[in-house]
Amino acid sequence: MAGALSFFHAFQYFLLTFFHYSSIAVNANYNIQSLGAKSDGKTDCTKAFLSAWTSACASTQPATIYVPPGRYLLGAATFAGKSCKNTAITIQIDGTLVAPSDFNVIGNSGNWIKFESVTGVSVIGGTLDAQEANLWACKSSGKSCPTGATTLAFYNSNNIIMNGLSSINSQKFNILVDGCHNAKLVRIKVSAPGNSPNNDGIHVEESTGVTIMNSRIGTGDDCVFIGPGTSNLWIETIACGPGHGISIGSLGWDLQEPGVQNVTVKSATFTGTQNGVRVKTWARPSNGFVKNILFQHLVMVNVENPIIIDQNYCPDDHNCPNQVSGVKISDVTYHDIHGSSATETAVKFDCSKGNPCSDITLEDVKLTYKMSRLILHVLTPLGSLPAQLSQIAACLFRKLFTVFILIQEYRPYT
Ligand SMILES: *[C@@H]1O[C@H](CO)[C@@H](O)[C@H](O)[C@H]1NC(C)=O
Repeated sequence: MAGALSFFHAFQYFLLTFFHYSSIAVNANYNIQSLGAKSDGKTDCTKAFLSAWTSACASTQPATIYVPPGRYLLGAATFAGKSCKNTAITIQIDGTLVAPSDFNVIGNSGNWIKFESVTGVSVIGGTLDAQEANLWACKSSGKSCPTGATTLAFYNSNNIIMNGLSSINSQKFNILVDGCHNAKLVRIKVSAPGNSPNNDGIHVEESTGVTIMNSRIGTGDDCVFIGPGTSNLWIETIACGPGHGISIGSLGWDLQEPGVQNVTVKSATFTGTQNGVRVKTWARPSNGFVKNILFQHLVMVNVENPIIIDQNYCPDDHNCPNQVSGVKISDVTYHDIHGSSATETAVKFDCSKGNPCSDITLEDVKLTYKMSRLILHVLTPLGSLPAQLSQIAACLFRKLFTVFILIQEYRPYT
């Protein structure tokens, strides 16, 4: 056995060495173990990671930072790209990065692993374990504790790839994409319990050209959060649950706020989530907007609010702004959405009274509640009701035993 193993190791060493030397002309490789990192999960490897980054940045050749199998303890680390010469850095992780078990080490730093102003960075594989357990214990004990850190954050960066990454035990958001252009997130796995606080799966804001595909996200907060200033976002083949579903907003807290436009969510499954696809805004004045949104080919399995627009968003009804949302919502299409609602309000449009939703289209939406009925709860000025709504209702009547359409009319301010 030992002989076989050492033969294997020797062979592996040969391969790695071979790879290293054969590719040296075109590609720089930095194995973090050669830079002093230990795979015991106990030795602080932060310096090794940062020194690999510094070398990779200084190289004008494509560079790979390699993390072999094993557990690597990493404190809060910022990978800054402003002075990088390199626009092709791959971080290949075959192991697990572990945060210090003392949550204070990263809990006040905002982010655990932070990339700032980088271009052409790919993070491939790996598990990120932020070890949140003690922080939650602290929070639920009522003591004063740090807010917690986002596990992996990209700020002001371009041409980013995350592929095959798993995030577990995150203290706050799992993945943050903020101020970025062109980010591709594929085969992302987020697993957190359904009661984890403020634990968004993938949180996108102020970013354009973000694609999220073939991913599975179970968490306590939003599966994907889409914040102000997001455009050209493509989400396809995603499984969400548990959690709060895919959410545009909350938006409209600020008077001056960039809008959200051109978002596609396609072929997603929501299982036991609080929402399926949601747009939510605070009831406050704002020049924000939401337009050109497509929700298509979605399956809902026992979802509390499969389709919801909530322009009076106020969690826990606490300190509600109680004004009128200025956020204009238009051109939102729901097409081919099937499955089951966990509540009798499967579709709810609670639109702004001052700035009513327009061009909301429902097509081929079939949601059941207790196998027998569906309620469309439309709280919007009748004048702005989708033209197709009555046709859809007629179709639903034929297909289901009972359909309740509850339309609450009120007079718009304008
Ligand atoms: C909308 O976004 C997609 C990517 O999600 C992009 O391919 C397309 O060009 C965008 N459309 C417009 C009009 O910008």
